[in-house]
Amino acid sequence: MRIGVLTAGGDCPGLNAVIRAVGRSAIGRGDEAVGILRGYEGLAKRDYMPLDMRTVSGILHQGGTIVGTSSFEPHTEDAVEEVKAAFEADRLDAVVAIGGEHTMEITRRLCDEEGLPLVGVPKTIDNDVAGTDYTFGFDTAVQTATSAIDRLHSTAQSHDRIMVVEVMGRNTGWIAVHAGIAGGADAILIPEVPTTVEEVADGIQARHRRKKNFSIIVVAEGATLGFESGEERLIQPTKATDEYGYPRLGGIGAALAAELEKLTGYEARVTVLGHVQRGGTPTSTDRILATRYGTKAYDMVKAGDFGRMVSLKGPTITSVPLADTKGVKTVDLELLEMARRFYG
Ligand code: F6P
Repeated sequence: MRIGVLTAGGDCPGLNAVIRAVGRSAIGRGDEAVGILRGYEGLAKRDYMPLDMRTVSGILHQGGTIVGTSSFEPHTEDAVEEVKAAFEADRLDAVVAIGGEHTMEITRRLCDEEGLPLVGVPKTIDNDVAGTDYTFGFDTAVQTATSAIDRLHSTAQSHDRIMVVEVMGRNTGWIAVHAGIAGGADAILIPEVPTTVEEVADGIQARHRRKKNFSIIVVAEGATLGFESGEERLIQPTKATDEYGYPRLGGIGAALAAELEKLTGYEARVTVLGHVQRGGTPTSTDRILATRYGTKAYDMVKAGDFGRMVSLKGPTITSVPLADTKGVKTVDLELLEMARRFYG
């Protein structure tokens, strides 16, 4: 078989481990693997690279993606025709599409409406893909954010400061809650649960009353700035959408720090972790998950199991119909509830 592999949407640590797993599985079983450059754009343009023993070697531990990525999606009739023509012209028997929520949706449409042989693999640091317990990339991002919080603790303590840490996560608070728990945050603000600045300020004052003169506040980029008055502000960068029209987030950390300074009278500083969370070498957990996903995707291609996404359910690697991956998977609120015990 000739199996294409593409990575679409934002990159994350572990993409290369999936590419390697599909590539090595194929090579070892007499099949051919082809890297499709820059996601679905490369498929429409028929832009490829070989995935052979040389190109898939030495990449397991590398962040990013050797085939490049983009958020291009074949929505127009012309683009869909180009993608179909590529399958035909380049004798592709299947394509493994590694991506997030939007990639799974376009992959589902290409399977259901065009009958293309596609298998999905869920990636993202945000962990917001429905139909799987975890996406690879998430563990690495949480590890990066946790290390940053650990470092901020010591300097916060030295200067009696409020440290606001803004983490990624799009419209969910998975990274914020996990890193907040692991780093011992004194408050965690996420999009799923509106929290007022007054509540956070009260928590900081309570800490001061028991001589804890510093606080670590973790805020997810998608959280809103809420006030007791009922006012709610979504903070976004000046350029509010990216080149594909998707909303951009960021800036809540600075806005929150300014409000907390005003309300408490204590000095506040902000650290925006940004793309640092997406870069670098994947943790061993992410390498293992990505390798399990990649080998499962290959097995699904061989079994003709198309129109499905590989998935982790508890300890088990399985698969779900792409139709079940619609929407966004939000945070398990029990986790946030548990984190709250340690505030104050
Ligand atoms: O989906 C991954 C992610 O890093 C989000 O957490 C973040 O909102 C977004 O991508 C940033 O996208 P870009 O790299 O286009 O700025």
